[in-house]
Amino acid sequence: MSMTTTEYSGGARSTRAAEAPVRWTTRWETSLDAAEHDAITALLAHSYASTTTVFTHGHSWAGARPELRLLGHHRGEVVAHAAVIRRFLRAPEHDTSILVGDVGLVAVHPDRQGLGLGGALMDTVATTLHRLGLPYGFLTCGRKVRDFYRRCGWQPLSEHALRSIGIDLALEDHRHNGMLLPVLRAAEDWPSGPIERNGQEI
Ligand SMILES: CC(C)(COP(=O)(O)OP(=O)(O)OC[C@H]1O[C@@H](n2cnc3c(N)ncnc32)[C@H](O)[C@@H]1OP(=O)(O)O)[C@@H](O)C(=O)NCCC(=O)NCCS
Repeated sequence: MSMTTTEYSGGARSTRAAEAPVRWTTRWETSLDAAEHDAITALLAHSYASTTTVFTHGHSWAGARPELRLLGHHRGEVVAHAAVIRRFLRAPEHDTSILVGDVGLVAVHPDRQGLGLGGALMDTVATTLHRLGLPYGFLTCGRKVRDFYRRCGWQPLSEHALRSIGIDLALEDHRHNGMLLPVLRAAEDWPSGPIERNGQEI
């Protein structure tokens, strides 16, 4: 799948978002230049101002470095962003691994929140995971935004304890903060029991 320069309009989910002339692009990590990293960093610094200060000097990621970015542009500014990295999560009780598109750095510029842009962004995420041929999307989030993702079709993995490495590199265990998007496989096929993300949160 070649997506280096692919552009496409966001999903038709939100008529409010459709009113705004937001242009969506999908970019592989190594195709981004310094100015683009700066534009992404500026958005993330605004959107995550209350929770993290890592987004400085073109450092447009927080934990694991993404491999793919989904960008919403408006009049030359990046106003929406999500990132994806493909990885295998381990289900230790079944001695098996599951391929997921691990999603993070989901952000809409504060001036544009509440207008449907986040929903359009997550539609673009779902479309991209499908185009990548992935069985599932996966993400971790705090309770405050769980309902946002629920509205976008994601399901809480509340019964599945997650072991992961946080942005601060600390080992996090027995968390129940995972969310699942069935893409090419059904939610019913997701293995029961704990999940290990043997890598850092994106
Ligand atoms: C979370 C975020 C991406 C949502 O973007 P947004 O453009 O405001 O979302 P939308 O306007 O498209 O909202 C879509 C739906 O989710 C709901 N929603 C939005 N934010 C929500 C929240 N924090 N909690 C619960 N529901 C929320 C909206 O009410 C809307 O519901 P509706 O379809 O019934 O009308 C945005 O608030 C943001 O960037 N926040 C800061 C960064 C962040 O916390 N990212 C997530 C980290 S895991």
